[in-house]
Amino acid sequence: MSLAAAAVAVALVTLFALLLVAILSYRDASTTARHAQQAIASANQLETLALDLETGLRGFIITNNESSLKPWNDAHAAYPGQMRELLRLASDNPRQEQRALKIKRSIDAYLRDFSVPLVAFMHRNPALARQVVRGGTGLHRLDAVRVRFDQFITGERKLADVRNSRARRTGRIAIVLGGVSLALAVLLIVLLTAYLARRVARPIRLAADAAGRLADGDLSSRVDERGVAEVGALQRAFNSMAASLERGRRALEEQNRKLRESERVKSELVSSVSHELRTPLASILGFSDLMLQRDLDPADRRRYLELVRTEADRLAALLNDLLDLQRIEETGVQLTREELDLSKLLEAQVVLYSAQSDRHSLELESDEGCLVRADRDRLAQVIGNLVSNAIKYSPDGGVVHIEARCSGSRVRVTVRDEGMGIPTAQQRQIFTKFFRGDAGRRLGIGGTGLGLALARDIVEAHGGRIGFESGEGQGSTFWFDLPLAAAGEPRGVGLSDSRRSGGGS
Ligand SMILES: Nc1ncnc2c1ncn2[C@@H]1O[C@H](COP(=O)(O)OP(=O)(O)OP(=O)(O)O)[C@@H](O)[C@H]1O
Ligand SMILES: [Mg+2]
Repeated sequence: MSLAAAAVAVALVTLFALLLVAILSYRDASTTARHAQQAIASANQLETLALDLETGLRGFIITNNESSLKPWNDAHAAYPGQMRELLRLASDNPRQEQRALKIKRSIDAYLRDFSVPLVAFMHRNPALARQVVRGGTGLHRLDAVRVRFDQFITGERKLADVRNSRARRTGRIAIVLGGVSLALAVLLIVLLTAYLARRVARPIRLAADAAGRLADGDLSSRVDERGVAEVGALQRAFNSMAASLERGRRALEEQNRKLRESERVKSELVSSVSHELRTPLASILGFSDLMLQRDLDPADRRRYLELVRTEADRLAALLNDLLDLQRIEETGVQLTREELDLSKLLEAQVVLYSAQSDRHSLELESDEGCLVRADRDRLAQVIGNLVSNAIKYSPDGGVVHIEARCSGSRVRVTVRDEGMGIPTAQQRQIFTKFFRGDAGRRLGIGGTGLGLALARDIVEAHGGRIGFESGEGQGSTFWFDLPLAAAGEPRGVGLSDSRRSGGGS
């Protein structure tokens, strides 16, 4: 835009300069004409003076009357001033100046050699003077002067013609060039206007439209960013503002979705926890009522008390899970690490869970000496949840295979069952807090959906990873990896220890 404006300014300045040249040229032409007129008029006056000199002289000599000499005297007195004026007017051209000088020289010679001496001679010998005048010498001399005047006047006219035509030609050229400059300036202004309309006004109008759509709630509204300079900067700023607004709205929507989800999860939790609390509480209340109302023999009482105890343990475990979760959410997983032999921990868990089911057979295969630096209770919690899930979600019984393999710097623990498996659609949510599969709920399998979420937090706090492979009706294989305590060759890599636990329990 600056360049275009500068070009328009240059064209306009050129236009004015050329018009000035044209005006000056025409003024020169008229000055030249006036100057020529003055020079010619001056020459004519001087010629008249020369004639007055001759006619005054002739009148005086023929009449011998002093008063007849007046024209001669007047012309003689005026001649020097008039001659100077002619020389001044001819001074701007050397040739004309030369011609004027020749006129001067011939008049001076006429006066000096003929006219002035003849006036003096008239007082001494009038008859001889009359004879000289009649001889026509003066007229002849004057004719020669008049020829010089003709040359001067012709020269002045020619000079005026040449100057005139040169000035007029310059003026014409200046007018033509001025016209071209004017056309150029108009063209540039038209082009600049078109350019401004297309590259400035239109993008701004489009940006205003887009801003209107944005205000109406269409946050996907954007503008083309290819505008020039400041327009482009405006378009980019608009787009980044719109993108930021869109991001903000998406974040709000996501937050909203999470809030709704957490609302849903909370109500699910309330119903799930109440259900989980109600079942053991009902047993506790039922058996304690029974013991209070009836006089039971010691064996029955003991059995009932053991049931009450088991149900109370279930309640305590559930509350522990809830408290754990709350603690983890507030402060993260707190670990009390110690070096421990994973195969021993697995063995203890297998013994513990073997007692829980008659229909399941728990198998343990473990490499020996897989030492990890871990929190014993937390790790037992993870293994316990995987094993209890494997038992819970294989209601028809079957083999639960537990394996620990050391390899390189890591150990992998796998828990495989032959149970109901996990439908693909639910697999994505399996580690989500409070998520429970449909089948478990349908079959009345207890749980709060916290076990795997806690397991993942604990494994990850140990620097490990947890995952699974499963298919509906095809059993599940859950696994987790942990770093070994001392990286390097583990002792007894391979099937060093294989035992069956809980067989037939
Ligand atoms: N081995 C498995 N086979 C089939 N489904 C499983 C298995 N393990 C977990 N699931 C599915 O994953 C869900 C979440 O498991 P998770 O251990 O977190 O909760 P839960 O067992 O339902 O309750 P909790 O462990 O808190 O008592 C379960 O409800 C179940 O649907
Ligand atoms: Mg569980």
